[in-house]
Amino acid sequence: MTAVDLNARIPNNVGLADDPKVRRALEHWQPKYLDWWREMGPTSFAGHDVWLRTAIDVGADGWAHFDYVKMPDYRWGVFLSPADRDAYVRAGDMAGSPAWADVPGEHRNALRRIIVTQADTEPASVEQQRRLGLTAPSLYDMRNLFQVNVEEGRHLWAMVYLLHKYFGPDGRDEADELLERRSGSADKPRVLGTFNDPCEHWLSFFAFTMFTDRDGKFQLAALRESGFDPLARSCEFMLTEEAFHLFVGETGLERIILRSAELAALDPNGDIRNQGGIDFGIIQRSINTWFSSCLDLFGGEISSNAAHYFAAGLKGRFHERDRFVDHAAKDQQYRMPMVVDGSIRHLDVPLRNAINEVLRDDYIADCERAVRKWNRRLVDMGSPCQLELPSRRFNRRQGLYADHAFNPAGDLVDRDAFDRNRDQWLLSTADNAYLASIMTPVTEPGKFANWIRPPSRGIGGQDLEFAYVRA
Ligand SMILES: [Fe+2]
Ligand SMILES: [Fe+2]
Repeated sequence: MTAVDLNARIPNNVGLADDPKVRRALEHWQPKYLDWWREMGPTSFAGHDVWLRTAIDVGADGWAHFDYVKMPDYRWGVFLSPADRDAYVRAGDMAGSPAWADVPGEHRNALRRIIVTQADTEPASVEQQRRLGLTAPSLYDMRNLFQVNVEEGRHLWAMVYLLHKYFGPDGRDEADELLERRSGSADKPRVLGTFNDPCEHWLSFFAFTMFTDRDGKFQLAALRESGFDPLARSCEFMLTEEAFHLFVGETGLERIILRSAELAALDPNGDIRNQGGIDFGIIQRSINTWFSSCLDLFGGEISSNAAHYFAAGLKGRFHERDRFVDHAAKDQQYRMPMVVDGSIRHLDVPLRNAINEVLRDDYIADCERAVRKWNRRLVDMGSPCQLELPSRRFNRRQGLYADHAFNPAGDLVDRDAFDRNRDQWLLSTADNAYLASIMTPVTEPGKFANWIRPPSRGIGGQDLEFAYVRA
């Protein structure tokens, strides 16, 4: 790895100055990226100063620098975590052999597909969130939204660098197409389902950063274990940025949940909506909606593709290197519930074929941890309300459970029963209309919308009264 070059047209620590071919390719892509950002990035705020952090190093401490930046001037760059001379293939049949500094011919198509699928989620989320600045509950939250947005843009840069550097003309075409697809478009949609779903208010934004960015964390963690070393190191650094997105989601939902409990206590009838807040029914339906949609992102429960990726060392499990002794995972079985003759039975499948489900297990455990924490805080406040994650079988559009209907507890129900209960279980048109009605922007420094608690502290060295965004 070379030193961080911040003054280059494209800030980087991958030695672009000495790599004229890739540098020219990226400099050619840069104006197209900026056109995309102007068209599909946060609407109405291009001229505002935003208190943003920018990557200036990849070291463990001090990689981030805070300053007022206009978003189109953000220093999007290419940063990889430091190379490990002894990098090795983490998983599968080749586990323990040296990592690949280049793309092995036999894995070219699979790696390209993996990288494009990850890359596509980054601009998609910016597109989904582009109007939210207009209804931000505070300048603090608005700034966090924009921080997430510019970092998703940087994640796109990280993946596009890999496409240009290692995949020749095909990679260049893929990089261009990443700027041509649009979230929710009928003709050119984004690759994955959740990334075409509307995210039209701040409850969905916080649920998105809680559940969808958390899917991102687990996908990046699986790719951090890749035998293709440049991909592993890109994902390693992306994970440091992703941690902030998860913070935004988890604390954002927590601030809403605790505020709702406060409003219930204030109201003589415990009526949260009467106090202008978000009732627990809506919060639970938001969890059900986004969590179930995100479970689909992990892919089929039984997947020969996933088995191949693992066997070939293209992806590993969550913390493959530290948590597992047997990195081949060859002759083991994984027991999972399946629908057989109209009832649920537990059957064994080869572990490698269940590798998506193994990652989904770790994701669900991480989500459960957050929900338990919220519930403890509710108990501490004396609130009778509790929240829960629905079953992994509920409301699935992909995989083993997509052909059947389940209630949130995970019991089989008939389709009619599911449809009858849909508005009790999932965010409804009426919920979204109510949420839209209370999302009036709050732009005075230090002030917060009534439906959310202020955070416990400010960000980037500033207090809550700071003007995090200014015209
Ligand atoms: Fe990202
Ligand atoms: Fe993210």
